[in-house]
Amino acid sequence: MEIIVKDTVEEMSKAAARMVARAINAKPNAVLGLATGSTPLGLYQELVRMHKEEGLDFGQVTTFNLDEYVGLPNKHPQSYHYFMHENLFKHVNIPKQNIHIPSGTTDNYEAFCAWYERRIVECGGIDLQILGIGGDGHIAFNEPTSSLGSRTRIKTLARQTIDDNARFFDTPEEVPIYAITMGVGTILEARKIILLANGKSKAGAIIAAIEGPVTSQITASALQLHRDVMYILEREAASELAMLDYYQWIQEKMPDAP
Ligand code: GLP
Repeated sequence: MEIIVKDTVEEMSKAAARMVARAINAKPNAVLGLATGSTPLGLYQELVRMHKEEGLDFGQVTTFNLDEYVGLPNKHPQSYHYFMHENLFKHVNIPKQNIHIPSGTTDNYEAFCAWYERRIVECGGIDLQILGIGGDGHIAFNEPTSSLGSRTRIKTLARQTIDDNARFFDTPEEVPIYAITMGVGTILEARKIILLANGKSKAGAIIAAIEGPVTSQITASALQLHRDVMYILEREAASELAMLDYYQWIQEKMPDAP
């Protein structure tokens, strides 16, 4: 586990973009796992800039998104299809056929979920998974008490998540109550994971995920079982970590390690 603390959201986003660019440069046909939400927005902006100004080439990249709301058509402004198209895909050169996002409108969810899992394997598995974190410590839409071995499936959203999302919809009734999401088990199979978090509202979830026990109550805590996780945190989100000094000490001393 590596924890990097940055003073601003912009620095957090740039550090994450450098990691993604490094993964693509090392393996041009890298398979990326992508997240939605406000947290990775700056990362996507920086990747778009790198593509346009520095020639970062997504021509062989494959992507898998974590989740999607059930029932929202792809063109709905709150759908994760729309979010990804607007914030990343329409600005970079990822071949359309290499883009995978769970379907919120399939007529057979069970078959779709099984196909999504198979497709990840067929593409060689996820090399680098980007994650945000929900206020209740969830990753993707794996709400509290999700099995830590779970696979892609339909989840009923927790009240807190529905309330958190209500601000994006005109009326509370429009907020979806189901989502299709990669499971915790699916996410843990990625070769490398980067979790981003910013803002004071995430500080409680971050301390629980990093320093609390591994528990299905905080599905991000399952990342403690993964051997290559990097947390890139903006200072406010990291502010409640009990061992913050130690993580910073490690960052300072690591370059001179034998
Ligand atoms: C949703 C998404 C998560 C995301 C979380 C936090 O629940 N399914 O993938 O991490 O929201 O969103 P934000 O980054 O906007 O705080």
